[in-house]
Amino acid sequence: MTETLLFDRERGLLTVRLNRPDKKNALTRAMYSQLAHALTMADTDPQIRAVLLTGSSDCFTAGNDIVDFLEQPNDLDNPVFQFMLSLLDCRKPVIAAVAGPAVGIGTTLLLHCDLVYVSRDARLRMPFVNLGLCPEFGSSLILPRLLGQAKAAQLLLLGEGFSGEQAVAWGIATEALDNGEAVLAKAREVALRFESLPPEAVRISKQLMKAPDREALRKVIEEEGKLFTQRLRSPEAVAALSGFINRR
Ligand code: COA
Repeated sequence: MTETLLFDRERGLLTVRLNRPDKKNALTRAMYSQLAHALTMADTDPQIRAVLLTGSSDCFTAGNDIVDFLEQPNDLDNPVFQFMLSLLDCRKPVIAAVAGPAVGIGTTLLLHCDLVYVSRDARLRMPFVNLGLCPEFGSSLILPRLLGQAKAAQLLLLGEGFSGEQAVAWGIATEALDNGEAVLAKAREVALRFESLPPEAVRISKQLMKAPDREALRKVIEEEGKLFTQRLRSPEAVAALSGFINRR
């Protein structure tokens, strides 16, 4: 059976690659569990200086697996929440390399990474409302603050997509590059730089940058999670999610 996540240790860098190309790297419960485990392990392993999270050169991820959504609606013990908390709590720098579609949690997880490299034509989108759902992973707090209410509503209420270039202009991503290969090369080069930076200074600086919002985010993630879980069982969501599965 093909591994849906590939792990690579290169000196002080742990690279985690989403590897479910036939389903556009859609994330299953098993994948969230493994991701949470990898981040927790990276956090405590002194040899690891940074984590690089990526997908394929033409697709980051189509977000949560929609079949999983219907068959095993999330609850707060779900691996997806373990993953969210492990990313929120990770004290090491997390760098994302994104090309092609980055849908749902594929976009919201970027709001918690330290450095985000995207292809210019990456297609980011948070179609939660379109699917009868609601925002998750702290996006209802972070995006209005970052972009203002009017722009955040365009992304979260209308579920409009945006490009990698726009993500950089809005402060969601660090830098846009020409294609998936260039994105991965840049992200890897940057991630490896943490090997020669003093790790304690990096850790304390990241902690200072994240501390002011940490508790508020934790509360919002929990509140969003409760509503999201309820929404998954709603007729609106069941119709929209079944519609995606039966669309062919
Ligand atoms: N969950 C489960 N399967 C998914 C999936 C998801 N989130 N996204 C894509 N897939 C599957 C498709 O069902 C299809 O499987 P099949 O070949 O067995 O029918 C395969 O991946 C390829 O998808 P397809 O839609 O044909 O690829 P595309 O290149 O035309 O479009 C996307 C790619 C990502 C834009 C599109 O698949 C999409 O919008 N997916 C849903 C995203 C979503 O709503 N996620 C949840 C957010 S909360």
